[in-house]
Amino acid sequence: MLIVLPKGRLLKEIKNLLELIGIYFEDSSRKLVMDTSIKNIKVAILRSWDIPKFVNKGIADMGFVGKDVLNEIEDEENFYESLDMGLGKCRLSLASYKKVTNSNKPIVATKYPVTAKAFFASKMQNVEIIKLKGAIEIAPILGLSDYIVDLVQTGNTLKENGLSELEVIQDISTRLIINKSSFKTNNQMIETLIISMKNALNENLKD
Ligand code: PRP
Repeated sequence: MLIVLPKGRLLKEIKNLLELIGIYFEDSSRKLVMDTSIKNIKVAILRSWDIPKFVNKGIADMGFVGKDVLNEIEDEENFYESLDMGLGKCRLSLASYKKVTNSNKPIVATKYPVTAKAFFASKMQNVEIIKLKGAIEIAPILGLSDYIVDLVQTGNTLKENGLSELEVIQDISTRLIINKSSFKTNNQMIETLIISMKNALNENLKD
């Protein structure tokens, strides 16, 4: 069984959770696929955007990924969204650098074009969306866009760059996703892992 984990700030929290359920691995090297303390469980660390792709194809049986990334998937999903891990909590927000005036088709920079499009459609507002991959906050500062739609956690990035959070579009957290065929073929093991994770998360909440 292969479990895929996201690089970056969430990795430590997920690694801790896996340890609580008895799955240990060493991630200090540059090794891409790692054995764990459980004989038939391996883990790989990927960019969060790639996680659903590996789980969708059944290369990985399970993965952890933010709801922000899942929102953007437009193809048919070959995986179940299982647990809300309650980790990596943040929000997807609309922000701007200065007051947007007199624009009948404002420009929105984001990594999340699907979510941004749906948000503005729900407000019947016509916008142009520019998809960026890097630091989104720079777009309105340099005049590329009027608005941004981006993740906000502490709010420090917005604050340090003089941007204002105008509206929370959606609360975001990390989800466990499971490949549909793996769920059938490895049912017992996956169910056991889910129950252990649920218990560990509940224990954590009590602390
Ligand atoms: C995210 C997001 C913001 C920042 C918000 O970027 O895109 O830039 O975090 O966090 P804050 O409200 O706590 O300041 P991240 O650091 O994950 O890097 P990324 O740009 O590579 O996604």
